[in-house]
Amino acid sequence: MKVTMTVNGEEVTAEIEGRLLLVHFLRDQLGLTGTHWGCDTSNCGTCVVWLDREPVKSCTVLAAMAGGHDVRTVEGLEQGGELDPVQKGFIACHGLQCGFCTPGMMMTARALLDKNPDPSEGEIREAISGQICRCTGYATIVRSIRWAASAS
Ligand code: FES
Ligand code: FES
Repeated sequence: MKVTMTVNGEEVTAEIEGRLLLVHFLRDQLGLTGTHWGCDTSNCGTCVVWLDREPVKSCTVLAAMAGGHDVRTVEGLEQGGELDPVQKGFIACHGLQCGFCTPGMMMTARALLDKNPDPSEGEIREAISGQICRCTGYATIVRSIRWAASAS
């Protein structure tokens, strides 16, 4: 089947199998490997992208379901060659260790800050509660998002 969607501001049309998950479409067909794939069972959250500006676990969405919608991945976070404050925060506050959970964490963080520019630590922890950091660096992730909030 043929599917058309917008990915990071550009319209994409591709031939796909109906059972293809969005995470695999992004990684394997579009080469957007910034979106990671950790479990396929909706547990880890490293696959989070935006679907119409809402963070979703892209292993829970069929690529066909994204047809006609706006998808944004971590590659689309920076704008005009300038890193997003969330990305800068993760650098400044050592928000990543191995980096595996980082793309999903950053997409959730940006969506949170767009709705709530000054979240409390509790609100940040709630927002990322569906995502796992195997390196257990939650304190620095929260600090990075707080840094982005104060820099925005
Ligand atoms: S790969 Fe999607 S939640 Fe783990
Ligand atoms: S930084 Fe390694 S899983 Fe989070």
